[in-house]
Amino acid sequence: MIKFASDQVGIDDLSVYVPKLFLPTAGEFAAFRSIDPAKLTKGIGIERMSIPDAHEDAATLGAMSMLNLMRRNDISPDQIGKIYVGTESGVDEAKAIGTYIIGMLEKIYGAGSFEDCSTVELKSACIGATLALENLCNWAVLNDEDQVGIVVASDIARYSLNSSGEYTQGAGSVSLLVRKNPRLIAIDGFTGSFTRDEDDFFRPIGASTAVVHGKKSNDCYLTAVGGAFASYKKKILRTGAIKLNDGECLTDHLAHLLFHIPYPRMAEYASASIFRTEWRDLPLWRNVETKIGDEPLPGDFTDMNEYLAKDAEFGKKFSKTEQFQIAYNSKVKDSTTISRLVGNIYTGSLYLGLASLAELHKLVPGQRVCFCSYGSGCSAMVFSGIVQPDVESLPPRNILERLNERTEINMKDYEMLHEKRRTESILDPTDEFAFTGLDEYGYRNYVFAN
Ligand code: CAA
Repeated sequence: MIKFASDQVGIDDLSVYVPKLFLPTAGEFAAFRSIDPAKLTKGIGIERMSIPDAHEDAATLGAMSMLNLMRRNDISPDQIGKIYVGTESGVDEAKAIGTYIIGMLEKIYGAGSFEDCSTVELKSACIGATLALENLCNWAVLNDEDQVGIVVASDIARYSLNSSGEYTQGAGSVSLLVRKNPRLIAIDGFTGSFTRDEDDFFRPIGASTAVVHGKKSNDCYLTAVGGAFASYKKKILRTGAIKLNDGECLTDHLAHLLFHIPYPRMAEYASASIFRTEWRDLPLWRNVETKIGDEPLPGDFTDMNEYLAKDAEFGKKFSKTEQFQIAYNSKVKDSTTISRLVGNIYTGSLYLGLASLAELHKLVPGQRVCFCSYGSGCSAMVFSGIVQPDVESLPPRNILERLNERTEINMKDYEMLHEKRRTESILDPTDEFAFTGLDEYGYRNYVFAN
């Protein structure tokens, strides 16, 4: 039985904001790109991609999710000590995106209302928001005053037209309220990390779309998350916070495994890799091998490429086993619900997974939830938290209902917006922040449009 300490820190609440426009992947898009729609909806797992309108950027999306979070919790600016923003689609090479966000919020709360607060932009591809969360949890532990911190994860995932990354695009923002005695998740302090210099995915300065080595990026993701999970496992078992009985493995003690979700199938690949590693030494592995044959071992091969091909083949068979499908459906699948309708939102994607579980009422007090964060380039961090007793007391977010109210756009408008050839908004901005243009020096101007 897990005890809730009164001095814990973690995620008290979250809010999600996505653009009002979307493009379905099946239909016109699939036809224009000559792709079987089932590949996109099932093979990749994305049904709709959120598309930013002409007046939106990572700063407006971030300001919107933060405004929603403040309104939901009736938080005034003087209660906020820090705003840490994770983004890899920032709007300025020097000025922190959080200062633009503050500028926008002060149009609602009054000039100077955030003066007591500090902000920083954390860039580390899709892991940026997780590093922001780690920093703010550490700050919240030390902070004597009754102040809160806010993590804003905000991104526009944009790839070249006709590229294989194009159908994983998306846009949106998640804001997390970080404080002592959180109502949603108390972070338990066990963390595993993995970092290595890789060229899997990057965006050189000045480029508007990422350079991606697609298949390699999947492999880097699996290696990094696997490495961070092994490190996390060592730490949490060493402390005795989790004790394994005979025939058990660590995943038996994790109610949900949340992953960075560049596209929902990636969460399936990543969880298959983790369950496979965890189950290898358990009695149930014999049942798996009886069904799909023995797992290939590197020592049995002289040719490394032959081993890798056999290993990949075994991995595919493993992901179709009943044992894996049961584990995936009970511990992972639900977290991909919102991502299927939004696409990749880079650093916020992991927390969209948490929002999916909250939306579906799948978070049960006392259960341990494991977060597997990944950022290209590449870095992974695995950590966990305990669902808190007050989780169901939070006001409803109605995210799925709001996603149903979005406006579908056609291919012509999508491509015009993508290439920035359309500067007029498709939908007039209403009740939201809007980018209105650059001044003569390149400074960005924003308004709140009623
Ligand atoms: N019906 C159903 N499924 C089909 C199908 C059809 N007609 N045709 C193909 N598929 C299946 C394939 O079999 C495959 O599934 P399995 O792995 O189970 O076999 C799946 O669809 C994907 O198809 P491909 O392997 O052909 O993949 P692709 O060439 O379309 O590329 C990708 C996929 C590499 C992810 C590409 O979309 C890409 O480059 N995306 C951007 C980079 C990315 O997201 N990388 C993820 C890791 S990096 C990261 O996480 C950071 C980040 O946010 C970017």
